Amino acid sequence: MSISHGIRRAGVIGAGQMGLGIAFVSAVHAKVPVLLHDRSSAQIKSGLSFFDKLLAKDVSKGKLTSEAAKEARDRVAVVDDLKGFKDADLVVEAVSENLAVKQGIFRTLSAELSPKTILATNTSSISITKIAASTIPEGKTAADPEGKESASRVVGLHFFNPVPVMKLVELIAAAQTSEETLNRARAYASACGKEVTYSKDVPGFVANGLLMPFINEAILMLEKGIATREDIDKTLKLGMNHPMGPLQLADFIGLDTCLAIQQTIHNGTGDSKYRPSVLLERMVDAQWYGKKSGKGFYDYPSE
Ligand SMILES: NC(=O)c1ccc[n+]([C@@H]2O[C@H](COP(=O)([O-])OP(=O)(O)OC[C@H]3O[C@@H](n4cnc5c(N)ncnc54)[C@H](O)[C@@H]3O)[C@@H](O)[C@H]2O)c1
Repeated sequence: MSISHGIRRAGVIGAGQMGLGIAFVSAVHAKVPVLLHDRSSAQIKSGLSFFDKLLAKDVSKGKLTSEAAKEARDRVAVVDDLKGFKDADLVVEAVSENLAVKQGIFRTLSAELSPKTILATNTSSISITKIAASTIPEGKTAADPEGKESASRVVGLHFFNPVPVMKLVELIAAAQTSEETLNRARAYASACGKEVTYSKDVPGFVANGLLMPFINEAILMLEKGIATREDIDKTLKLGMNHPMGPLQLADFIGLDTCLAIQQTIHNGTGDSKYRPSVLLERMVDAQWYGKKSGKGFYDYPSE
């Protein structure tokens, strides 16, 4: 029997590359009203203008009628703070890959929203179980009914970049996630037009448990001078038929995000083979975050 997601209104926190994409597939494919929040008003502005560009592109390719595009755009509204998500049945958090920031957001969501609201995180690597525990109401324990109920509606919904294009969502249950939360989150990802795979809650899950050590190895090779950036990327493109090389992919993901993921895997496993490359650390120190900041392993002049 197929389970209905029952989401009448969704919320998305973070209007960066991922949050914007999640808002897009929610409005265009799942066809639900979407509330969008970011702490930066500049990011909201550039995110919404990118949203309009994506719609216009789909209309020009004949994927959407102009009426459907207008309806999708009209479904999106901006909210100024987390209280604005009061009427949402599902909120997807897509802010920077930082445990403390995510915990702060989930603590506030838990205090402000109904315990029935599903709280999903788009984290690439952080323990969903730890994030779920941050929703336990003040003064309650994990064993109290309120603590159990609150943590049971937290789930990992890991979309891929660029969200409108990539067909997958990785679904991750925290130790506390209820069966109902998991099934409804799965149904929501399907409504967004995605195939769903399931991973246990381990650092990096399946996707980044495999991808990020590979990217880190490519950066270590560059750091050691084994080959040029062009030859490293070309080897994987032409030799392994990858659509892009690992250094370019790292630029597209965001080098700050890559470093944060690799640190989570390194700390979470305690295995020295996952030590992040010093070159990657220095590039992030320099605020060379890749495509989104205009400079990474390659240069991306602003359009
Ligand atoms: N980039 C990828 O390829 C990719 C893929 C899958 C998952 N993810 C995950 O998605 C999340 C977001 O990644 P991204 O690439 O969109 O990052 P991004 O840097 O493009 O966007 C992050 C956004 O979060 C906002 N933000 C930060 N702190 C906030 C707060 N406290 N309240 C409200 N907004 C806040 C920032 O202003 C920014 O707009 C991360 O957890 C990342 O690991 C990224």
